[in-house]
Amino acid sequence: MRKKLGVNIDHIATLREARKAGFPDPVEAAVFAELAGADGITVHLREDRRHIQDRDVYLLRSTVKTLINLEMALNPSILEIALKVLPDEVCIVPENREEVTTEGGLDVIASREKLREFVPALQAKNIIVSIFIDPDPRQIEAAVDCGAEFIEIHTGSYADAKGETAMHAEFEKVRNAAGFAQSIGLRVNAGHGLNYRNVAPVCGIPQIETLNIGHSIVSRAVYTGLERAVRDMIEAMR
Ligand code: PXP
Repeated sequence: MRKKLGVNIDHIATLREARKAGFPDPVEAAVFAELAGADGITVHLREDRRHIQDRDVYLLRSTVKTLINLEMALNPSILEIALKVLPDEVCIVPENREEVTTEGGLDVIASREKLREFVPALQAKNIIVSIFIDPDPRQIEAAVDCGAEFIEIHTGSYADAKGETAMHAEFEKVRNAAGFAQSIGLRVNAGHGLNYRNVAPVCGIPQIETLNIGHSIVSRAVYTGLERAVRDMIEAMR
């Protein structure tokens, strides 16, 4: 099965927010990403609004032709927005104000109570719910328990591993987690830290449906333009 690519355009908004100049506009970027073959557009509406703003999410809802995957923390005010915007999918992520980026998967076990409120509220509006988690079987079991249809496996440790042995060990965790998740009824996506060099092995994991990739694509786009950067990623995924 061909892997789908969700292009995360948060860092288009990061560049805009660096100057508060109104450009570059993630809403325009989504058009170029879709023209280049993206299967979906991913944005993270953070509590601190450091990149994506409320206006972006509302506008993307009416312009995106593929699907919108909204990343959000277990925050009631963001839930309220999600229930108004109605993205196609929501991925629940941990959030911590000091972090530079999402630093790891959600502790599903510790967040069970909140997840049991958030997941059905989103599903009642026909939003597909995914939970971003580390490749840890205990967390994967807890995700089923909370009613999520999907998990997104955090590939950050694989991406950050130094040396072939460490990388192989981290890759095996992702591969085993994907197999285990499917065996207990979950559908599987993956993302974080994936780039043009490390994406191919992850594409060989049969259970994974969509890869959500942002930083490496937006970084390459600075040199090549966004359409070319997205096309190059689709090529790397083949
Ligand atoms: N998936 C999730 C849940 C994320 O939080 C992020 C980063 O916002 C990504 C995927 C994309 O990660 P990267 O920007 O490293 O490609």
